[in-house]
Amino acid sequence: MVKYINAEDTLPLRSSVLRDSLPFDQCVFPTDDIDGGFHLGAVADEQIVSIATFFPEDYPEQGVGGFRLRGMATDPAFAGKGYGAKLINFAVSALTSANASYIWCNARSSAVVFYKKLGFEVISDEFEVPGIGPHFNMIKYLTA
Ligand SMILES: CC(C)(COP(=O)(O)OP(=O)(O)OC[C@H]1O[C@@H](n2cnc3c(N)ncnc32)[C@H](O)[C@@H]1OP(=O)(O)O)[C@@H](O)C(=O)NCCC(=O)NCCS
Repeated sequence: MVKYINAEDTLPLRSSVLRDSLPFDQCVFPTDDIDGGFHLGAVADEQIVSIATFFPEDYPEQGVGGFRLRGMATDPAFAGKGYGAKLINFAVSALTSANASYIWCNARSSAVVFYKKLGFEVISDEFEVPGIGPHFNMIKYLTA
């Protein structure tokens, strides 16, 4: 099951999966409470096992109506079981219904295949995010 969650509910997995167990207050994104943004959690065994955050932000030269995806993470104990895909598909459906144009993200190079399987395509050269590693920008166009 995928549901809307609060920003605070994303912090444990952001910390453990994405930020090398940094304290929760250092895992807050400045955009966490932005108008129109939302956080999703996939639930299994009564716990949140996969998270992602979406908020309005256009990508250069891709036009208006863009949403940015950040903080995509699945608990390693539940990885490879389809929870991340369910969560992205939920967002695609919700944002398509809301007439958004596209979803984009800075994808870790190690996750590019995951995003490709969900219909995202690479739109940049590879670049380094300091302290995190190599990334590509990826986009999924939404069609009603
Ligand atoms: C990348 C990540 C979010 C995927 O979540 P997940 O819940 O394990 O993914 P799913 O089980 O829904 O996988 C969906 C499909 O993508 C594939 N896949 C998932 N992660 C993959 C990866 N890193 N490389 C290649 N394929 C991957 C799965 O095998 C599955 O393929 P299938 O449909 O052919 O069976 C998760 O592995 C993770 O949190 N990784 C560490 C943090 C990270 O890199 N986050 C992304 C930051 S941009």
